Amino acid sequence: MNISIRDAQREFSAEVTFLNTASYGLPPRVAHEAMLAAERDRAAGLLTTDLGDAAVTRSRESFARLIGLPADRVAIGPQVSYFVGLVAASLPAGATVLVADGDFTSLLFPFLARPELRVRSVPLERIADAVDGGVDLVAVSAVQSADGALAPMEDLIGAARAHGARILLDATQAAGWLPLPADRVDLLVCGGYKWLLGPRGTCFLAGTAEALAALPPMAAGWYAGDDIWNSIYGLPLRLAADARRLDMSPAWQAWAGHAPALEFLEQVGIEAIHRHDLAMAARFRAGLGLPPGDSAIVSVGVADGTAELLRDNKLVAAVRAGLLRCSFHLSTTEEDVDRALDLLAGRVRLPATA
Ligand SMILES: Cc1ncc(COP(=O)(O)O)c(C=O)c1O
Repeated sequence: MNISIRDAQREFSAEVTFLNTASYGLPPRVAHEAMLAAERDRAAGLLTTDLGDAAVTRSRESFARLIGLPADRVAIGPQVSYFVGLVAASLPAGATVLVADGDFTSLLFPFLARPELRVRSVPLERIADAVDGGVDLVAVSAVQSADGALAPMEDLIGAARAHGARILLDATQAAGWLPLPADRVDLLVCGGYKWLLGPRGTCFLAGTAEALAALPPMAAGWYAGDDIWNSIYGLPLRLAADARRLDMSPAWQAWAGHAPALEFLEQVGIEAIHRHDLAMAARFRAGLGLPPGDSAIVSVGVADGTAELLRDNKLVAAVRAGLLRCSFHLSTTEEDVDRALDLLAGRVRLPATA
């Protein structure tokens, strides 16, 4: 069943003008209810582990379809930094990791926390040119958290192929609105609580069978077992053969709330969401006199006191890296954008080139 953008928008119930998906996503009603129902079941003593298992399976399969990979190449966990830590742990001492200046620290700190790795940081727009024979891994966000800038994916994939480097793509600010070349990168990590509309506490790691097999199952527990419910006690080690060997045991309520959100996104379709989000961002940019852009996140310099003014007028956006960051997603309407433009009139500092 397909859901139109207009019908999808009826499923959100924010009480404010919400332009803050880059911080956290709003749940569609069906997902919000599912999470609350799981918590009500817990209070009533009626929660079953079957519910958690089913929610994880549905989430894994839906995410796999969203990015176009088989579900057996998708692991589930709680946070991005945990999965990036596994990637960092898999690299030999002396390996070189290329990153983008100012990228989100969950993608940087796990490498920096291993002093025997070399981490080179370059401006995002130069990251493809900076790949050479000495680079083992490029770790970069598909969309930057601070300002919405898109990584030069095609150039990067070409450069990595030419020099034998691997790519770890952080899709946390991208999956859910931006079509991604998931089948052409080695590893893709994605937090679930932003553009994928999940609660906090869900995350995916996808990749090629070869890249996944190279990762150490350092935090393996019962849930990484081949037959989960026969893996809860005793020796020997009996991990799943596929990506599930990297799974961490699930926060049940979080996954109960995420499965319906992912399926909802599938029913609307990423292409339609991509068009919608960019149309909302374009309306905002045009209203401010900014040049056209390619991101669902727009960051602008604003006069002092703007964050307070927006908050007092029930418009929720974020201040990041000294800029006002507005994000435009499925729930955003033209009225939301126009309201933001009214409130920001005369308060935005336009870049010199605009
Ligand atoms: C690009 C990116 N990666 C990861 C995260 C979250 O990381 P973690 O799941 O480790 O909290 C964020 C949150 O803003 C992000 O923007």
